Amino acid sequence: MTLAFDVYGTLIDPNAVFQKLTERIPEKAQAVMDLWRAKQLEYTFRRGLMGKYVDFAVCTRQALRFSCQTFEVNLSDADIEAVLAQYKTLPAYADVHTGLQALRDKDIQLVAFSNGSKADVTAVLKHAQILDFFKRVISVEAVKSFKPNPEVYEHLVNSTHADRSNTYLISSNSFDVLGAKAAGLKAIWLQRSDKQIMDFWEWTPDHVVHQLNEIRQLF
Ligand code: 2OP
Repeated sequence: MTLAFDVYGTLIDPNAVFQKLTERIPEKAQAVMDLWRAKQLEYTFRRGLMGKYVDFAVCTRQALRFSCQTFEVNLSDADIEAVLAQYKTLPAYADVHTGLQALRDKDIQLVAFSNGSKADVTAVLKHAQILDFFKRVISVEAVKSFKPNPEVYEHLVNSTHADRSNTYLISSNSFDVLGAKAAGLKAIWLQRSDKQIMDFWEWTPDHVVHQLNEIRQLF
């Protein structure tokens, strides 16, 4: 069995960049942060449709600039770089280390599966001290598209030499959960907060958990 973990928002907390933004723009940090994340994902969806792939880090940078402009925040180039640099040293959520530890089992293959480049994801997982839990890091960059393009889930299955009915995506991102289900994989939705709502589409996750360490009990 393969458990494929989404990275940003699932293992790694993107909201930690909030600190740097708060230092620079205390009043508007939350609004900038929220639009930044939404735009970052929107850019991946649009680029996937357009067939105009760029590194996820480019989407992140362009989305930050858009969000700052929207809220009339003037960050210097140095400030922007400082905020983006923090993106490379984001921490894991508090439940991640123990949750992964509990899944260390010879019959379960753990992989990280992300929109981020292999180099960036490897670096952020290493910095968060969780890289060693994963057999490999699988990035969409090999396919030059983004989640939820079915080709990226196909790439995940091919890279792990696993059966899709035995491959679980674990993600807090509803679009990722539905993307995996639509591509014939299994999926576990990690609902990190009650405010997160699953889309009312024709697929539903196989399981819903609220903490990573609940996954062990499922298998
Ligand atoms: C990831 O692929 C979607 O941000 C999410 O890591």
